[in-house]
Amino acid sequence: MQFAVALGLLASAAAPAAASGNFFRIPCAGRLVDERADPIISPDVVSQHVHEIAGGNAFNFSMPSYNTTQQSSCSSCPIKKDLSNYWTPKLYWQAPNGSFFDVPRLGEGLGQRAGMTVNRAQTGQEHVQAFPAGFRMLAGNPFARSNPGFGGSNGSANAINWQCLHNSYHEPATGNLPNKYCDYALRAQIFFPSCWDGHTLDPPDHSSHMSYPVGPNYDNGDCPSTHPVKLVNIFFEIDYVMNTLLDDSGNFHGRLVLAQGDPTGYGLHGDFINGWDVPYLQEKIESCNAGDDQSALPGCFGTLFTNDEQHQCTIPPMVDEDVTGELKALPGNNPVQNGPTTAANLPVKELAIPATPPAVDYTDMTAQGWSYQGCASDTGSGRALSGASQTDNNMTVSGCLDFCAGKGYSLAGIEYGTQCYCDNSIPASQAPVKGQWGGCYMPCAGNANETCGAGDALSLYKKCDGGACTNAGFELGTPVPDTDGGSTSTRKARRSHLERHRRSLRPVQIVS
Ligand SMILES: *[C@@H]1O[C@H](CO)[C@@H](O)[C@H](O)[C@H]1NC(C)=O
Ligand SMILES: *[C@@H]1O[C@H](CO)[C@@H](O)[C@H](O)[C@H]1NC(C)=O
Ligand SMILES: *[C@@H]1O[C@H](CO)[C@@H](O)[C@H](O)[C@H]1NC(C)=O
Ligand SMILES: *[C@@H]1O[C@H](CO)[C@@H](O)[C@H](O)[C@H]1NC(C)=O
Ligand SMILES: *[C@@H]1O[C@H](CO)[C@@H](O)[C@H](O)[C@H]1NC(C)=O
Ligand SMILES: *[C@@H]1O[C@H](CO)[C@@H](O)[C@H](O)[C@H]1NC(C)=O
Repeated sequence: MQFAVALGLLASAAAPAAASGNFFRIPCAGRLVDERADPIISPDVVSQHVHEIAGGNAFNFSMPSYNTTQQSSCSSCPIKKDLSNYWTPKLYWQAPNGSFFDVPRLGEGLGQRAGMTVNRAQTGQEHVQAFPAGFRMLAGNPFARSNPGFGGSNGSANAINWQCLHNSYHEPATGNLPNKYCDYALRAQIFFPSCWDGHTLDPPDHSSHMSYPVGPNYDNGDCPSTHPVKLVNIFFEIDYVMNTLLDDSGNFHGRLVLAQGDPTGYGLHGDFINGWDVPYLQEKIESCNAGDDQSALPGCFGTLFTNDEQHQCTIPPMVDEDVTGELKALPGNNPVQNGPTTAANLPVKELAIPATPPAVDYTDMTAQGWSYQGCASDTGSGRALSGASQTDNNMTVSGCLDFCAGKGYSLAGIEYGTQCYCDNSIPASQAPVKGQWGGCYMPCAGNANETCGAGDALSLYKKCDGGACTNAGFELGTPVPDTDGGSTSTRKARRSHLERHRRSLRPVQIVS
């Protein structure tokens, strides 16, 4: 997904005023996890509906303080000093036969999750303040099923919208989910309120501390006297691709439904937990004007997490349910509520957060003398493992391990569901990162219950050399080093070892 900070691409029914001031646009290449988690609304429990979650990998069901965000060792977004979390409801498509399927984001496929763009901008000439430590907020209301003010002169009613993008033209933004085929992408746009009451970090309703500016523009204008402090504008842009939803004749049937059971799209919402280094963000909003030019981001923010590092920055799903593939009901059994009256907050399927994560993405081969090392990257100029290789449309983990053992190699890596690579060593730059779950999601072509890497990612196994044979553990590692040369704490959060097999891994949709 892309996380962008920009006003440049803003397009709304109520044409926002031209913004002045600095802005930048942050494309997030990956995302951490898709699951029923929402530490703002539902701390410590499995939440009502599925979210697509991005940002720092210290994300968890409970995020007790700003400090928790700072324990991240990576982010699915590029800026190293932004360990914030950003999430939105997952978008599904309900086929005419009633089944639900997840709608992929642009750039998704090859077993990789894609990101969103987080736009940050300051508008006007007024003093703009960075989000304080401990700050959180919501935009939108999951239960909304109508928005009579959309398109009118009250800017705040236009802040959340959809846009159907065609290859040759863009339709105007709408408040409702357009239920038709958008041949380039369907874009979800969530503009957060930017006027703060100046003291509340996170009120019980998670939103009354913030307001949109008064007047016709949700992104610009004077703050109301109740919320006088102008914070950085933040704007999510998420592009969904719809070509996998067409039938054999190229027609679109069925309907799009947000994870909370919203077929109208008025219930689109976004959540934000601040994990920025606060003085750093303050300095950047005053000095960085990269605009839409992503090549200008390093000039503002120094070394970024590479796209590969962002893709590899994931966390294991903790909730024991399927959220992709063909689903008979929305995860949590959320009923579809059409509106236009506000949806009822109906009980959903309760699930406990297990002590041990249920879903793991490797196969325990220790009894056969191989240990899982983690998810390695294969994006370098040459192959990470170049000793021997085999492609097999019936690939399994044991099939690859046997192949490499037969060739006398001690490392075996499986990529893209079908490819097996062997060697005796792997370059350090491509080795699995300690403490990171990695971006290996593709089912093995020969056994969909097993994981066989992804595009550019290898499920890596190593032959045990006679000593103890144990799979790699996963702990959050050392926090992101201070790129300005200062010291960082080495606080570590333990993460339990993951030994059980993934119950059922659904085929990944490939987007061409
Ligand atoms: C967060 O970390 C800082 C610096 O280590 C510490 O002073 C503060 O007490 C911590 N706050 C919480 C809520 O844990
Ligand atoms: C329901 O429809 C979808 C899309 O046409 C199809 O892929 C799926 O196999 C169907 N499921 C059943 C149970 O018929
Ligand atoms: C503008 O709309 C918002 C809700 O979208 C509402 O809270 C606010 O009162 C409206 N303002 C005016 C001036 O009508
Ligand atoms: C695929 O592999 C499995 C297990 O090794 C084997 O039982 C099956 O016959 C193979 N299928 C094909 C089409 O080769
Ligand atoms: C995959 O798992 C399902 C459910 O546990 C099981 O029924 C099926 O036989 C497994 N398939 C293979 C190839 O192991
Ligand atoms: C995440 O939360 C779960 C449940 O609250 C807890 O068991 C687990 O240890 C937490 N993980 C980390 C890395 O803190």
